[in-house]
Amino acid sequence: MNPGNPHLKFASQAVAKPYFVFALMLFVGQIVFGLVMGMQYVVGDFLFPAIPFNVARMVHTNLLIVWLLFGFMGAAYYLVPEEADRELHSPKLAILLFWVFAIAGVLTILGYLLVPYAGLAKLTHNELLPTMGREFLEQPTITKLGIVVVALGFLYNIGMTLLKGRKTVVSVVMMTGLVGLAVFFLFSFYNPENLARDKYYWWWVVHLWVEGVWELIMGSMLAFVLIKVTGVDREVVEKWLYVIIAMALITGIIGTGHHYFWIGAPGVWLWLGSIFSALEPLPFFAMVLFAFNMVRRRRREHPNKAASLWALGTTVTAFLGAGVWGFLHTLAPVNYYTHGTQLTAAHGHLAFYGAYVMIVITLISYAMPRLRGIGEAADARAQSLEIWAFWLMTISMLLITLLLTAAGVVQVWLQRMPADGAAMPFMATVDQLKVFFWLRLYAGFGFFIGLICYLLSFRQRGRLTVGVAQQAG
Ligand code: HEM
Ligand code: HEM
Ligand SMILES: [Fe+2]
Repeated sequence: MNPGNPHLKFASQAVAKPYFVFALMLFVGQIVFGLVMGMQYVVGDFLFPAIPFNVARMVHTNLLIVWLLFGFMGAAYYLVPEEADRELHSPKLAILLFWVFAIAGVLTILGYLLVPYAGLAKLTHNELLPTMGREFLEQPTITKLGIVVVALGFLYNIGMTLLKGRKTVVSVVMMTGLVGLAVFFLFSFYNPENLARDKYYWWWVVHLWVEGVWELIMGSMLAFVLIKVTGVDREVVEKWLYVIIAMALITGIIGTGHHYFWIGAPGVWLWLGSIFSALEPLPFFAMVLFAFNMVRRRRREHPNKAASLWALGTTVTAFLGAGVWGFLHTLAPVNYYTHGTQLTAAHGHLAFYGAYVMIVITLISYAMPRLRGIGEAADARAQSLEIWAFWLMTISMLLITLLLTAAGVVQVWLQRMPADGAAMPFMATVDQLKVFFWLRLYAGFGFFIGLICYLLSFRQRGRLTVGVAQQAG
């Protein structure tokens, strides 16, 4: 027991808090830039020339990735000591790396916003080891190196904690996912001149993250929270976890082929990519069954209702976004028409939100009342605000997805289906989609309001369950 905060099993778990707080700050930034782009889609000159669309897009997607990484790291710092049944190997290192990553992240975003991208490449000497200029991997090489250093220090810290402590399936699966995350990131340094080859390995980061190793991280975080909120036996949870990660890896690795259809890779990928990726919804479906099963068999009523809701919600939304919307365009004969349309963006939004945004929030929702010294759960008012936030954000994101899907279908119809010569040009097509983009913008504001509700739910001090007058903070 830790005298400073009786609600934490180990004092060092407290290092998770700055990670979570900073993650949520970046989340706000991500959504603001999403709204800027949503506006630019319908009012082309909005904020021109201060924030061009390509810059806003880079900031939006990079902030998303970086805040999710902060979320994963915070989750690991919270979860691994508790699972290992010992203090974190080095809380000091965790705090040091927090500052390194936070400062590097902020400088990179400022670089995007204040310097033209080509100038940023020059300024950071991209020519020494050219890695910039690819979607999601736009970071200057020096930032990428910083990420590697942070990742190594982080893995060392978590790894040592694990080695010296109790090894549970949950923490070993999480560790495997985190190591995989770091290893696949190394392919961002490989940037061959040949564009086909470049794309081939680019997906080893982008696809093998979200449809491979990140699923392990998600599964372990889900398992951890479910064990806590339902009190179901670890053995049951572990069996599920094994099945989920096996299915994820078996389908996801060769499933990479669904990105190799049109980039110049051998034709066999049309078959391999279609068949294996068509099976990728299975692990996501298993997560739905897993979560609902655990909650049905629960041994206790946990007071943190909001955390349970996020845990159930993330599995359903991830299944919809990754499983259903992924399957929609994953077969080669379909993807031939839908590749790179608004349908892709529809899927990208719901999948990222449902799987990774929501699982990080699930853990924050579970851990934050303890980290803040409140107890197992925030008070009823704070939780009801959080539940409002859940529905506002989730319904808004579903609306964004449905609107982009409609836009995508019309786009395919006008621009992709007609035979050569009869197809409507890209810009003329986009003009036809205006109504969807206006509505998407409104749904985006709905999402933003949900996010504000979520943040406001932390304003409640909550019920002080212990006698000591404690400062939440
Ligand atoms: C949580 C897991 C997932 C996330 C976060 C995710 C996210 C994304 C994103 C952001 C893109 C766009 C990439 C780009 O910039 O070109 C994409 C593309 C794609 N995803 Fe997923 N995805 C996930 C799971 C799946 C699953 C399970 C399937 C198949 C069942 C799938 C099928 C596809 C396909 C076929 C494309 C290519 C679309 C195109 O040709 O334009 N995804 N995904
Ligand atoms: C947690 C919420 C969100 C997540 C996870 C998310 C994720 C993403 C991802 C992964 C992409 C790249 C898509 C691709 O490559 O296919 C993207 C692009 C984009 N996002 Fe979001 N986003 C979120 C919220 C929003 C909101 C609220 C808006 C505004 C209404 C928005 C507007 C956009 C726009 C306009 C693009 C650029 C699409 C394009 O290139 O044409 N996003 N977002
Ligand atoms: Fe993929």
